Amino acid sequence: MKIEIDDEIYLSPFEEGDASSLMQCLNNPRVNSKILSVPNPYTIEDSRQFINSNSYIFTSRGNHLNYAIRNMEGNMIGSIGLELNSLLHFKHSGTVAYYVDQAYWGKNVASRALKAFLPWCIENYRFKRLTAHVFSDNPASEKVLQKCGFSFEATLKKFYLKDGEYIDTKFYSIFFD
Ligand SMILES: CC(C)(COP(=O)(O)OP(=O)(O)OC[C@H]1O[C@@H](n2cnc3c(N)ncnc32)[C@H](O)[C@@H]1OP(=O)(O)O)[C@@H](O)C(=O)NCCC(=O)NCCS
Repeated sequence: MKIEIDDEIYLSPFEEGDASSLMQCLNNPRVNSKILSVPNPYTIEDSRQFINSNSYIFTSRGNHLNYAIRNMEGNMIGSIGLELNSLLHFKHSGTVAYYVDQAYWGKNVASRALKAFLPWCIENYRFKRLTAHVFSDNPASEKVLQKCGFSFEATLKKFYLKDGEYIDTKFYSIFFD
């Protein structure tokens, strides 16, 4: 299963061989500190566990929900994923999250990946809204969302607890008919 983006990057499911790139990417404090549910430090075992959990998601959901962003050599240079809501009244709504290895920042990778991922989300799940939760000290991620058509909805104060700190979080959303 491959989601085409352009002639430089594409999305495909995580593979066992991604474990060390994934660990390297998420062990960077500048990446780790902006993402909610990743252990810190991020070990090779954490990587392997995450990659294995994706096979389980595929089996239970019939779709991969987390994708590696890859360059044309097939190297994992980031990730993008979708979180579904299983409760009936929230099923029309999903959450997207992404990160890019610091070596590839500023090359439009996240924006291109998200722009390509949105149609895939809609086609597969017919969402009415997709949301991203951005820590309030992450203007680069806000910019990615704005470039992809998301708009700012609200700041939720002390919404998340990460590494012992309560974090103000900005909700960005995009809506569909
Ligand atoms: C946020 C992140 C995904 C952006 O990835 P990226 O591939 O560099 O993003 P893009 O190049 O597509 O776009 C980044 C935009 O933010 C801008 N930007 C970067 N740093 C910025 C800052 N400090 N303030 C304002 N804008 C900033 C860039 O100039 C660019 O905008 P432009 O294309 O108009 O010039 C990446 O920095 C990352 O992985 N950060 C850590 C994890 C994370 O924050 N994930 C998102 C959680 S919600």
